[in-house]
Amino acid sequence: MSATERRLLLTARLPGLPDALPAGLTPARWPGGDRGSLLRAVAGSTALLVTANEPVDEDLIRAAGPGLRVVGTYSTGVDHIEVEACRRAGIQVVTAAGALAPAVAEHTLGLLLACARRIVEADRFVRSGADWRWEADAFLGAQLHGRRLGILGLGAIGTEVARRAAAFGMEVHALPHRPGTPLPPGVIPHGDLVGLMRVSDFLTLHVPLTPETDHLIGKALLTELPPGAVVVNTSRGRVLDQSALLELLAAGHLAGAALDVYEDEPHVPPELRRHPRTVLTPHIGSATTAARRTMTAAVLRRIGAALEG
Ligand code: DGY
Repeated sequence: MSATERRLLLTARLPGLPDALPAGLTPARWPGGDRGSLLRAVAGSTALLVTANEPVDEDLIRAAGPGLRVVGTYSTGVDHIEVEACRRAGIQVVTAAGALAPAVAEHTLGLLLACARRIVEADRFVRSGADWRWEADAFLGAQLHGRRLGILGLGAIGTEVARRAAAFGMEVHALPHRPGTPLPPGVIPHGDLVGLMRVSDFLTLHVPLTPETDHLIGKALLTELPPGAVVVNTSRGRVLDQSALLELLAAGHLAGAALDVYEDEPHVPPELRRHPRTVLTPHIGSATTAARRTMTAAVLRRIGAALEG
């Protein structure tokens, strides 16, 4: 690489990459490995494109050297990035925000339906080869139509979830994360968490992980949910206190939980895996071909724009 070439280090294989590269950047890919190998690979980069698996901290910024000008993340969340340390070093942080909202909203509704209608349990039952015949009271689940959905956080993803839930005939309640957030049509706003919990037959979380939202939904708030409620989390695992969730599932206060994210990813505790009324997916909320291509294009476009100033 010549002294004037600008290097973009990518930490993952990204769908849609060759079409989306900004002009004037020479791409290099870190093939994976331990933290030490990432710190070595990052040296001399002008731009970095990381995923939520690679924390961006002062060590990484130092290892990159003074030429690093922009960090792009292949995510909406920035909880893996020390944004303040980047700011102090004059490094801009850009995300794929917005590009993945429809995909995550679809996955959220999928989890909600799978949990309410016991689809995974029923699938396991059929696969077991058990004898069965139609019965009026087998696999009774909860109907979404006419029930109340509580949405915590009304950013791009929460808003897309609200629209879809309304189309299912749900009564949609929401507590926006930021004041002044516009409400999608028909959404009933709430000003406090306890009020939202008390009306949520189903609760879905769509707030970023910050010091304020870390373990925000704990035992006291989960206890405020109506008996038989279902909790869905496609945001960040640490927003929800997993032990409290397990306790309330075991006590029968909650009818089920559908999770795409976990407190200590990729570790999923055996109690969650064994529970018959949990539906668990491996952080695949945005995993559609279309969303991933759109995310690649969006974050690279933002990296290019940041470099252009
Ligand atoms: C996001 O965009 O934050 C997704 O959870 C992927 O990390």
